[in-house]
Amino acid sequence: MTILSDEIYSRQIFDGKEMPTFFNYPELRERLIVLEGWSKAYSMTGWRLGWSFWPKNLVEHVNKLVINSVSCVNAAAQFAGIAALDGPDDSIKEMMRKFSIRRKLIHEGLNNLPGVECSLPGGAFYAFPKVIGTGMNGAEFAKKCMHEAGVAIVPGTAFGKTAKDYVRFSFAASSDNISQALEKIKKMLG
Ligand SMILES: Cc1ncc(COP(=O)(O)O)c(C=O)c1O
Repeated sequence: MTILSDEIYSRQIFDGKEMPTFFNYPELRERLIVLEGWSKAYSMTGWRLGWSFWPKNLVEHVNKLVINSVSCVNAAAQFAGIAALDGPDDSIKEMMRKFSIRRKLIHEGLNNLPGVECSLPGGAFYAFPKVIGTGMNGAEFAKKCMHEAGVAIVPGTAFGKTAKDYVRFSFAASSDNISQALEKIKKMLG
């Protein structure tokens, strides 16, 4: 069995911790694929640029796939990627400082909503609260938020059946917008 681990948020871990990575298990190297990229740490989502690690025996096959599907990343994006890696990490630190503030805001705000329980996110910029205490499952809650509060979130089922009582909020938004969204949902829940 091969393991594919998407580790794109590896630089966005809170509280000075490090992301647990499958690279810590050398015995898995021969069956491990790891996906990484610029989209998150360098906010370069639109550049369509990423990298991945593959077991030796799969390299020939993935090369065929990539050559025939995306051919290659354009040169300008490749140079931008090199500049991002060669440059200082100040922007990542500054981004994480801001995300820490927003994490606290959304974590406290969600837990203050009746029927909503949210654990503290350890990384990335998403909160994943359980909303079944409101009398709605994740899909019902997300739909109501969209139509009645004007807040777009993702139902937990987008991440698997076991998350049906959950929803995902992104806090890659300004503190003002997060506060407004929480206020509107509070009104919606009455
Ligand atoms: C789990 C995960 N993997 C990868 C990506 C990055 O995707 P891309 O490199 O296509 O921007 C994202 C961004 O939304 C993500 O959330």
